[in-house]
Parts: sequence; structure tokens; C-alpha cells
Amino acid sequence: MAYMNWSDDLSVSISEIDEQHKNLVAQINTLHDAMRSGKGKDALEKILGELADYTQYHFGTEEEYMREFGFSEYSTHKKQHDAFVAKVAEFQRAYASGQLGLSIEVMKFLRDWVAGHIKGSDTHYITCFQDHGLN
Ligand SMILES: [Fe+2]
Repeated sequence: MAYMNWSDDLSVSISEIDEQHKNLVAQINTLHDAMRSGKGKDALEKILGELADYTQYHFGTEEEYMREFGFSEYSTHKKQHDAFVAKVAEFQRAYASGQLGLSIEVMKFLRDWVAGHIKGSDTHYITCFQDHGLN
């Protein structure tokens, strides 16, 4: 069983975004598996870096649509994205400098934040995005 499972309750009913969310879930699982199987620091740093990069790319996609469609909750939503990006960057920095180990707490934070954000915030833009032709 994977550490994090994508299921329909994480769907925002917009295929491009669902695909990106699935990729994000897959990367969290990759990081978890690498951590559990005792992969070395270089490998873990690389995976964490890929996760950070992909997260920014994905947030960029959402934010572009929000701006284009004039989504009313854009600034609140963007603040949540920025806070997560900063937190992941802090993990990267702390891990690289040896101040932080990749623990199950870190994994749990990533998993819970992503699932909570999708369900609690991403779902708010569904109607707006669909009204502008995304599906
Ligand atoms: Fe989001």
C-alpha cells in the first residue's frame, strides 16, 4: 500500500489539475519509499528538490488560471501556496545542512498539507474554473 493514495475525494473534476495532483501524490510516495528504504542523502536531496520544483510548477498552473479567470480567493490561495513553498524550501535547507532528518513527521506534514489543501481550498475554484471552460 502506498503511503498516500489518490482517490476520488481528491478530485477537483478538472483533468489537467487532477493529473498534476496525482503526480504530486506520486512524488510524495517516491520520497517516502526512498526514505524508508534507507536511500542516501544525495538521493533524498534530489527527490526532495524534484518535489519542490514540481510543487512550484503545479501552483503556477493553478495561479495562472486564477488570475486569468479573476478568481475571488486568489490572494488567500496564493498565500497558502507561498507558505507551503517556503516550508518545503526550509526542509530542503535544514536537511542539506544536517539540521533535520527526513522523518515520518515531515512526510506526514507533506501528505496532510497536500490532501487538506486540495479538499479545503482547491475545491473552491472548481465552479470558477469550470465556468471558464476547464473540465
Ligand atoms: Fe492550490
